[in-house]
Amino acid sequence: MIRAGVDIGGTGIKSALVDTRTGELTTPRLRTPTPAHSTPEAVCAVVAEQVRELMDTHHGEGTVGIGIPAVVQHGVIQTAAHLDASWVGVDAEGVLSRAVGRDIVLLNDADLAGVAETRLGVAKDTPGVILMLTLGTGIGSAMFVDGVLVPNLELGHIEIRGKAGESRAAASVRERKELSWSDWIERLNEYLDRIEQLVWPDVIVLGGGITRKSEKFADQLVTRAELRIAALRNHAGIVGGALLAADHDRAASAG
Ligand code: BGC
Repeated sequence: MIRAGVDIGGTGIKSALVDTRTGELTTPRLRTPTPAHSTPEAVCAVVAEQVRELMDTHHGEGTVGIGIPAVVQHGVIQTAAHLDASWVGVDAEGVLSRAVGRDIVLLNDADLAGVAETRLGVAKDTPGVILMLTLGTGIGSAMFVDGVLVPNLELGHIEIRGKAGESRAAASVRERKELSWSDWIERLNEYLDRIEQLVWPDVIVLGGGITRKSEKFADQLVTRAELRIAALRNHAGIVGGALLAADHDRAASAG
């Protein structure tokens, strides 16, 4: 089944059609910078425009799967670390669905990336406790136990040296503060150590755009858990969205 996945990020909004059997993108990836004033209206307009292109130009169909960098409880946004504060309390499933004119499924962005990596990526067929960490504008986290997701885990906000962990160790911090690789790796190791004092995964999967450069840092990271670099790289959120959209449509047609 081919379905559309959309990944709303703090920096860019990305989408594509995806072959949900393989995780391959079947269209070029669309990318628009996240509006500076990232209100629900502004973000919905970008998502609607991208979905229109995927459906009209590339003949996509069905439900659209969308990831957003926030806690999503029953379709409602509860936090907005990287989006305008006016998102909090919004029925995002409702507003996004009306904006794109179709059914949508909505999940936290890291949860979606984890769905993709555990089903089609580097943690496929891996039993036990898997922790997905996405290193991007912030740090996203998602935990799976034998493939079952515990949604809305917010480990990016664990406090280290009086600050949210993500504001010390996210990939964006390395760029913004012009940290050397070794300084950033030190921060990331401190972050990983703190996480592993609190949760005990068997495998940690690191994702996000920075994993394109994993040769610069992966072998210098120290973890108790087995460390794997995401296979779907920065597409995992899009792929996860498409997978959930396909699940939704299959369930609807079955019954
Ligand atoms: C947000 C998470 C999100 C992560 C990555 C964090 O600041 O609180 O919900 O998954 O950033 O985008």
